[in-house]
Amino acid sequence: TQQMNVGLLGLGTVGTGVLEIIEQHQDKLAHQIGARVEVQKILVSTLDKDRGEHIDRAKLTDRVEDILTDDSIDVIVEVMGGIEEARNYIHKALEHGKHVVTANKDVMALYGSELLQLANEKKCDLFYEASVAGGIPILRTIVEGLASDRITKIMGIVNGTTNYILTQMSKEGRIYEEVLKEAQALGYAEADPTSDVEGLDAARKIAILGTLGFSMRLDLDDVSVQGISNVTSQDLAYGDQLGYTMKLVGIANRDGDKVEVSVQPTLVPHSHPLASVDDEFNAVYVYGEAVGETMFYGPGAGKLPTATAVVSDLVEVLKNKRLGVNGNSAVIPQFEKLLKTDDE
Ligand code: NAP
Ligand code: HSE
Repeated sequence: TQQMNVGLLGLGTVGTGVLEIIEQHQDKLAHQIGARVEVQKILVSTLDKDRGEHIDRAKLTDRVEDILTDDSIDVIVEVMGGIEEARNYIHKALEHGKHVVTANKDVMALYGSELLQLANEKKCDLFYEASVAGGIPILRTIVEGLASDRITKIMGIVNGTTNYILTQMSKEGRIYEEVLKEAQALGYAEADPTSDVEGLDAARKIAILGTLGFSMRLDLDDVSVQGISNVTSQDLAYGDQLGYTMKLVGIANRDGDKVEVSVQPTLVPHSHPLASVDDEFNAVYVYGEAVGETMFYGPGAGKLPTATAVVSDLVEVLKNKRLGVNGNSAVIPQFEKLLKTDDE
């Protein structure tokens, strides 16, 4: 059997999940792709952290060059987070001719275009299914499953941390600070949760969804963003009395050539399907002119759901390798068109 060697950047919530899925599903993976998946080296920032006995410490390094310049490594899995460093490592990995799988929506929303272009030039794959809506395979659904349609609206709950906070505050009467801490402990929140609670994480995800769905590049600066840090228990209670549930909703809407993207706390009628999406779960509503209304639901954050998306991307890389078609990451279209505003 062939072997696919992986360099893992990051061994936190998602990284440990990736190791677990590769280990537990090794037989299925080998059967599906005709190769064993082997994590050869793992980048961490603190070498002497206690990580449990199941981690082979000989694989750990705090020097990224050990991984990026290792010719035996075929694929880099970037699950360390952050922006400039991660972008730089992905760039270098592609320069070295390695395929890349990432869960990093920050990097993909900001630099996806440039990185995908480089990947295509280098005949490498760059996949990022885990970057939006965790375990829901929404990016491939939009790009491949709805390829024949014209999508005009995408709307969704795409941040697990804020949905967890709003659900626990409104249904269990708990306080914001306490629930945020719990979301961090459960591994849903970003290392710095500001981007979750201020709506930026959701904005990056809805920008990626809109970019793929509408085949045009959406500029993050044009996304109007409001988070949940000012939402009070009283707001939630009043909404509830009037028949509404408050959710942080991202919307990308296109009307002709004009596109509007926003993220804001939204009062959703109790009867609407988005109102019953609770805790860390996400849901993405997609409207296509031919298909009509579709809705996708599942866990939007957390170790194993996110790792499932990452490892499924690895499977795709290997399938492409066997077919000799790596380097066609058309998952983001070739676009130059920016978000249109009223001023244009
Ligand atoms: P995390 O738990 O904070 O883990 C980050 C890991 O990366 C840690 O192992 C850390 O090393 C390592 N690391 C961070 N910065 C580093 C650096 N500069 N150099 C070397 N190693 C570094 O993060 P996570 O929750 O797994 O998230 C990882 C990525 O997945 C992020 O981009 C996030 O947005 C994305 N994501 C997360 C989820 C989720 O539910 N958590 C879902 C979808 C996408 P140490 O272990 O030594 O600290
Ligand atoms: N912090 C993110 C969230 C992780 O809460 O949705 C999943 O992208």
